[in-house]
Amino acid sequence: MTAPSSPRADALEALGVSRAFAGVQALDGVTLRVGRREVLGLIGPNGAGKTTLVNLLTGFDRPTEGSIVLEGDDVTRWSPVRRARHGMARTFQHGHLFGGLSVRENVEVAAIGCGASPRAARRRAAALLDQVGLSRQAERLARLLPHGEQRKLGVARAVAAEPRYVLMDEPAAGLVEAEVPALVALVRSVAEEHGAGVVLIDHNMALVMEVSDRIQVLDQGRTLAEGNADEIRKNVDVTSAYLGGTGIDEAEAHV
Ligand SMILES: Nc1ncnc2c1ncn2[C@@H]1O[C@H](COP(=O)(O)OP(=O)(O)O)[C@@H](O)[C@H]1O
Ligand SMILES: [Mg+2]
Repeated sequence: MTAPSSPRADALEALGVSRAFAGVQALDGVTLRVGRREVLGLIGPNGAGKTTLVNLLTGFDRPTEGSIVLEGDDVTRWSPVRRARHGMARTFQHGHLFGGLSVRENVEVAAIGCGASPRAARRRAAALLDQVGLSRQAERLARLLPHGEQRKLGVARAVAAEPRYVLMDEPAAGLVEAEVPALVALVRSVAEEHGAGVVLIDHNMALVMEVSDRIQVLDQGRTLAEGNADEIRKNVDVTSAYLGGTGIDEAEAHV
């Protein structure tokens, strides 16, 4: 088990967290730390525990051991809503949009929910929809959007709340390659301009390598490696975790 170290005031942390489901140790003593203005890429094969870790960080699930610390406060028992009010936002791997509201309204509601005036919310929504390339879809019902566009909307909605920490679970799934650069730019601007700490999960390895300041690799519920993109690419344990040694770039299409 990774030894939990002392909490930091400008970071969101999971300290030695474990989560067991009936018969499955989804996480086993994982420590993760993301600072403000930093993009942390979280990767690992299917079933590694990535989504479970995001659920623990955001309060949608509780650890069986360990704690979640938000800027020095132990928030392990806090509800997702309370954490959201204290600056955390997330995107979901599946759904969770207001399908009966328009694309624009989905983003506005998120902005209003964190205290923006209707007017400010409208401005913020327009800017974000432009940034993710959804301006022309603004008046469509969210549930009528294709899957990839729903992911973009999920990102715009998370960012609209001006979070200090944002967790993105596979935001690029369903995007075509040509749409990835805009997502890279958005993720970087969330960190650099909005000053948020970002945890980014994605199977698109090129995206994760390009956008992340640091990468943490999970495998079977444990941290297998941490480092920058070059260090992770060269890491033998990481390479073998991805399809027994085919290498991370070749494995990317299959995980
Ligand atoms: N609610 C749940 N009930 C039972 N097992 C679960 C549940 N959520 C996740 N798991 C199991 O925990 C492990 C990690 O899952 P997950 O965190 O979704 O991995 P990843 O996101 O890295 O693909 C998997 O073996 C998965 O089947
Ligand atoms: Mg997952």
